[in-house]
Amino acid sequence: MSYLFAPESHAADGFVLRSYDVGDGGALARSLNASYDHLKTFSTWARPVTSEREAEERARHFRAKWLLAQDFVVCVAPEEGAEILGGCGYHLREGGLARRNAEIGMWVRADAAGCGLGTRVLVALLEWGFAEWPWERLTWRCAAENTASRRVAEKAGMRPEGVLRGHRNAAAPQAATPQRGDTLLFATLRDTWRRPAGR
Ligand SMILES: CC(C)(COP(=O)(O)OP(=O)(O)OC[C@H]1O[C@@H](n2cnc3c(N)ncnc32)[C@H](O)[C@@H]1OP(=O)(O)O)[C@@H](O)C(=O)NCCC(=O)NCCS
Repeated sequence: MSYLFAPESHAADGFVLRSYDVGDGGALARSLNASYDHLKTFSTWARPVTSEREAEERARHFRAKWLLAQDFVVCVAPEEGAEILGGCGYHLREGGLARRNAEIGMWVRADAAGCGLGTRVLVALLEWGFAEWPWERLTWRCAAENTASRRVAEKAGMRPEGVLRGHRNAAAPQAATPQRGDTLLFATLRDTWRRPAGR
């Protein structure tokens, strides 16, 4: 498979997963600017300030790649209103459409984090990904020291597959000698996916 007519949106319990679109820049900038301190440690792409124009460019770039079936960056939106609660996506980093593999990534707006939203979004991405997308294998990688990210994968029922030792620059690279950090790998296969009880 080299091209995908990708599904556009998925209504979950209390939020909607959808493609970014033209006009999302204002809400995306507000969400990122309210979350920099929360994101800066583990999201290397985060910047202290993102202008509305930069965020609009980013949203349009995400939309273009979605339509080209090159990357699927997903926006987490409330059921009502134009704000953005976070971002996630199915990224084609492991063989992509040809192998039907995607890696899930995620961030949650600072004021919405720590209340179970990340876990619910990950469960929804697994459910949607196996029901309407062609994925056979969905993976999640996180820094070994990113407890929130590890817990989200565990609570969503993803299976740990191992530790990639010394795989990345450590999250706090202030030391004179650059430190290396471990990455945890989790995966869920289509055949074995079951929604975790109570989630
Ligand atoms: C990781 C992230 C997406 C999780 O979303 P969330 O909405 O906070 O997740 P939930 O509320 O569903 O669950 C969070 C879990 O992590 C724990 N947690 C949250 N913040 C934590 C922190 N700073 N330190 C340790 N544990 C933390 C919570 O206690 C909960 O675990 P528990 O059920 O065992 O108590 C979100 O925290 C985030 O945006 N982090 C910054 C970006 C990031 O690291 N993305 C992941 C890259 S792999």
